[in-house]
Amino acid sequence: MLDSFELTKIVGAVLAALLLIFAPKTIIDLTRHGHHGPVAGGYKLPEPSAAPAAADGAPAAPAAFDPAQVVAALATAKPENASGTFKKCLACHTADKAAASKAGPNLWDVVGRTHGTRADFTGYSDAMKKKGGDWNYADLAAFLHSPKVWLPGTKMIFAGVSDPADLADLIAYLRTLSDNPKPLP
Ligand code: HEC
Repeated sequence: MLDSFELTKIVGAVLAALLLIFAPKTIIDLTRHGHHGPVAGGYKLPEPSAAPAAADGAPAAPAAFDPAQVVAALATAKPENASGTFKKCLACHTADKAAASKAGPNLWDVVGRTHGTRADFTGYSDAMKKKGGDWNYADLAAFLHSPKVWLPGTKMIFAGVSDPADLADLIAYLRTLSDNPKPLP
């Protein structure tokens, strides 16, 4: 019959053995996990467009999204190619001049409009109302690429259009939603 002192010794020995087996592995895992790249999880925050190489000579981060690229692509963008992308917007927006706003503001004449000021739309977020400034092409590119990154607190629950060419076609199309389309950049 084992007395409790012997039992304690046996349990202790088993725990020590387990520690010997698992501790090195845990330490290796911890070290490995510490060496992931800058984007280990969560969503990516915008990086400065000209990401400088790290001081220690490590290669610069991969090119981040740059709204200026989309704006430059507008010159050759094809509004007629935007219908597939714009279908996603139609779940919440209308593009008809005379139509009332839906779950999102009517997008007629949105280029050049002051952020968050469509008169018949009452659902703007505080973030949008406080944003100030007009919807120029660069703002549209940044917002539509990643709504919640460009405008934290936005009520537009939409992941964004990631492909810069699709984005340029889409914005070229939005521009046509007007009696007097704004000049291209
Ligand atoms: C799930 C619904 C939803 C979808 C899908 C959606 N939007 Fe929106 N959109 C909104 C809402 C809600 C707002 C108001 C956001 C706020 O005030 O923060 C908004 C705001 C906007 C604005 C600002 C307009 C203004 O009057 O200031 C633009 C531009 C816009 N959306 C374009 C688009 C485009 C283009 C797409 C498709 C690629 C799209 N949205 C997809 C709901 C949506």
